[in-house]
Amino acid sequence: MGIVLGIESSCDETAAALVDSERRILAQRIASQDAEHAPYGGVVPEIAARAHADRLAPLIEATLADAGMTLADVDAIAATAGPGLIGGVMVGLVTAKALAMASDKPLIAINHLEGHALSPRLADASLQYPYLLLLVSGGHCQILLVEGVGRYTRLATTIDDALGEAFDKTAKILGLGYPGGPAVERLARSGNPKAVPLPRPLVGSGEVHFSFAGLKSAVLRAKQAAAHSDADIAASFQQAAIDCVIDRSRIALGSAKNPTALVVAGGVAANQAMRGALEALAAQHGLPFVAPPMALCTDNAAMIAWAGIERLGQSDPLDLAARPRWPLDPDAAPVRGAGVKA
Ligand code: KG4
Ligand code: ZN
Repeated sequence: MGIVLGIESSCDETAAALVDSERRILAQRIASQDAEHAPYGGVVPEIAARAHADRLAPLIEATLADAGMTLADVDAIAATAGPGLIGGVMVGLVTAKALAMASDKPLIAINHLEGHALSPRLADASLQYPYLLLLVSGGHCQILLVEGVGRYTRLATTIDDALGEAFDKTAKILGLGYPGGPAVERLARSGNPKAVPLPRPLVGSGEVHFSFAGLKSAVLRAKQAAAHSDADIAASFQQAAIDCVIDRSRIALGSAKNPTALVVAGGVAANQAMRGALEALAAQHGLPFVAPPMALCTDNAAMIAWAGIERLGQSDPLDLAARPRWPLDPDAAPVRGAGVKA
């Protein structure tokens, strides 16, 4: 039995959580910065770092109080050490180091992507390795074979934009504000997914990697042409994005060694239409489909605390550096154009 305090600050959510080895989330708090970044249509790194610095310490204090605990009750302090916006990551990591030092508890540095990758196991105790993971968020778009803690084989990544980024840019083009994914999904419900002819980049080419830049440009042209309603553009964009995801996931399912399940994680996993399409794909392959509850899909600290539980026994040095880039599979071959993605 163990209890880990998790800290997340790599993008625009300041979050803390206490999770135990029985998969119980004992307490969790999330402070979103949506209001601060909304005027800019995206996350402004400097504003994010300052907001994390202002909010994190009281947020951790409140999380411990919610559970009726103090640091004496936890077995380790886990914090996102990358990849992400470096100012924010540093705030979380330095805070974790200070707490670890003051309480004489081990520090566990967590890769944010590993947090997402293992989050389905927090929600579903029956999920066994290896599983095929579609990791789709604002900064990442990968298909990984998850073979164990720290054992990830990247099968696909994006050569340009991440899927969540494509949703956010579409939202911006349609004037829907930030964050865009939920707004696009909402508007798409009242639109016709077949109304606007949009490209499905690389579908049918046998290419394993993703590309969304061409789709985004086509959405911009459709908006400028003013021949369709925003709802039809949103619905057609979402359908095109889903078609790309299903095509690439089918290829990955064909090449992965005996996965036990098809799993989706990351912020875009909150998209109901995509969940439905992935569930159907998994069924075609005779596999269970696993998607964590919505609150575990977008950035949160429970997934970081859970990764800490999976890594209990590890103790990282207090001079460990925050990493803006930190690939889950360092051995994966470089992909043309993918240099800026972790
Ligand atoms: O995992 P996350 O919270 O942060 C990153 O690590 O990037 O993912 C945020 C991304 C944003 O791009 C957001 O627009 C997208 O997830 N997102 C969605 C939905 N909810 C969040 N995209 C499509 N449909 C949604 N319902
Ligand atoms: Zn994330």
